[in-house]
Amino acid sequence: MQKRAGVHLIATGGTIAGLAEEENAPQHYTAGVLPAEQLLASVPGLAGVARLTVEQLYSLDSRDMTPEHWRGLARAVHAALARDDVDGVVVTHGTDTLEESAFYVDLVTQSPKPVVFTGAMRPANAPSPDGPMNLLDAVTVAASPEARGLGVLAVLHQRIHAARDITKAWPDRLDAFSSGDCGVVGRTAPIQIFRAVVPREKALPIAPDGPLPRVDVLVIGAGSAPDMLEAAREKGARAVVLALPGNASLPDAWRDAVIVAAKVGVTTVLAARCGNAVPPKMGKRNLPAIVTALPPAKARVASVAALGAGSDPESWLHA
Ligand code: SIN
Repeated sequence: MQKRAGVHLIATGGTIAGLAEEENAPQHYTAGVLPAEQLLASVPGLAGVARLTVEQLYSLDSRDMTPEHWRGLARAVHAALARDDVDGVVVTHGTDTLEESAFYVDLVTQSPKPVVFTGAMRPANAPSPDGPMNLLDAVTVAASPEARGLGVLAVLHQRIHAARDITKAWPDRLDAFSSGDCGVVGRTAPIQIFRAVVPREKALPIAPDGPLPRVDVLVIGAGSAPDMLEAAREKGARAVVLALPGNASLPDAWRDAVIVAAKVGVTTVLAARCGNAVPPKMGKRNLPAIVTALPPAKARVASVAALGAGSDPESWLHA
């Protein structure tokens, strides 16, 4: 008989561990209150899929996650991956910032063992919760040899996404996530892998203890005032991501502010506010700035991860 794979579950909170005060009004609930053991107990048959161990790392609504939480989570993931009895890791997480934590862990992790994030759009005591299905699918993927070498993944609504590509695209749909033009990596029940994920040549180190760099995101609309960049600098931002119209198109009125920021050592990152890739032909237009194809929230994650590890953010913003 084939040995069951070992999967370590790290619980961080979210709607998947949320409880509504009244089952008939599931839209009013508190995220991150149900302990991990109870989450597991809600999924019949889970113990048949993998040998499970569990860790309650945080109990948070993911809007309250910070870069310090990403660092703590990455350390917990690395500790689990180092164990001989662990073949894969599952992280349960709120869906609101799941893509940010998953991308941080992806940037600092190089392991063939699957690391799979999951969450839910409905609280655990909703009339028809999606958490149990997502958890079963995530554990199945983490235990599967087919998921090895694909980097950090997220499994939601029967779809397998790469951490690099996933974004929450709808705030309330059960099928809330998209991987845009890159497409999903595969599907679950049964697992089918549709495409390869090109592995990164190296990973960033996890940022050492101590304060992490402040990186701000400014969303620029028609006529937005460039002194917002100055304000971010003065508040201590080491990098500022500008979520710009069109192809990361910087208004002329902002050019001087970007030049001054560079002179005082603050990195400006030009991202497209519509979230999809910036074609390379747009270039920097002679600006001392980095152009990224990452969506603004992920450009911020890459900047925090690189600056926090003492690395130049440029190559990680093309990650
Ligand atoms: C959260 O992100 O913690 C709340 C929302 C969710 O999990 O869907």
